[in-house]
Amino acid sequence: MSIDPYNLAGEAAAALKAAAGLDTFDVALVMGSGWVPAADAIGQVVAEIPVTDLPGFQAPAVAGHGGKIRVVRTPAGRHALVLLGRSHLYEGRGVDSVVHGVRTAAAAGVRTIVLTNAAGGLRPETQQVGDPVLISDHINLTGANPITGTTFIDLTEVYSRRLRELAREVDPSLAEGVYVAFRGPTYETPAEIRMLRTLGGDLIGMSTVLEAIAAREAGLDVLGVSLVTNPAAGLSGEPLNHEEVLEVGRATATRMGVLLAKVVDRL
Ligand code: 6GU
Repeated sequence: MSIDPYNLAGEAAAALKAAAGLDTFDVALVMGSGWVPAADAIGQVVAEIPVTDLPGFQAPAVAGHGGKIRVVRTPAGRHALVLLGRSHLYEGRGVDSVVHGVRTAAAAGVRTIVLTNAAGGLRPETQQVGDPVLISDHINLTGANPITGTTFIDLTEVYSRRLRELAREVDPSLAEGVYVAFRGPTYETPAEIRMLRTLGGDLIGMSTVLEAIAAREAGLDVLGVSLVTNPAAGLSGEPLNHEEVLEVGRATATRMGVLLAKVVDRL
C-alpha cells in the first residue's frame, strides 16, 4: 500500500525541521532551472539538506535542477526554505512527486510560496531574453492535476495580486504574463507556439502550474516568476537547447537573487 501523499509531506516536513534545527519558516521558494545560481544572492545559508535525506523526495535527473533544500536567512532576518530544483511531470514519477516539495513546505508551516521557472517567450515583440516576468495566470495543458477527488478548488486568483504588487514595489519595470505549461520534455513545434499566442499565452514552460494548484489547495499565497531564457520555437529561427536556459540563468543570477531577497523581506 502506498502512503498518502499528504502524510508523506508531513513526514518530510518533520524531518526538514529537525535537520534545519528550526520550527517555522516564513516563506518557500522553488528555484527552477536557470534560477539555482540566483539562490546564493537570497541570503545567508543556515543549513543545506540533500532532498534524498527527506521522505518522498528523489534525486533530480536533469542538469541544473539541484536536489537540495537550503534554509536561508535573508538580510531582514526572514527564514526561507529554498528548494534547489524540482521534479517535473516529464520525468515520469507522477504528479504527487511534482508537488511534494510544495506540500512539504506547506506542512512545514509556510504560508507563502514563490515559484520560479525558465520559460520561452511567446511575445518577442515585447520580451527580452534575461527579463523576469511576473506570472498573472496560467493555462494548464499538461493533462495532469495534482488533486484527485471531488474537492472543487477556485482558481480565480492562483497568483496573488497582492504579491505581484509587492514585487512591483521592488522593481516597477516587472511585466506580467500568462504562463502556459506543456508536459514536455520536447519543446513545442512552431505550430503549437502560434496556437499558444492565439490562446493568450505569453510564456511557455514545463513546470509551475501543478505546484501552483497544489499550493492553492493548501491555502498558500503564490508568487510566480518566469525568467525568459529564449524566444519560443519558430519565433527566432534558432533551435532551442537546455544549455542556453542555464546560461541565461547564470548571467542574471545576482539580479534575480536580489529581487527575490527584496520581495521576501517585504512579505
Ligand atoms: Cl520554448 N518551451 C518550453 N516548454 N519550456 C521552455 C522553453 C520553451 N524555453 C525554456 N523553457
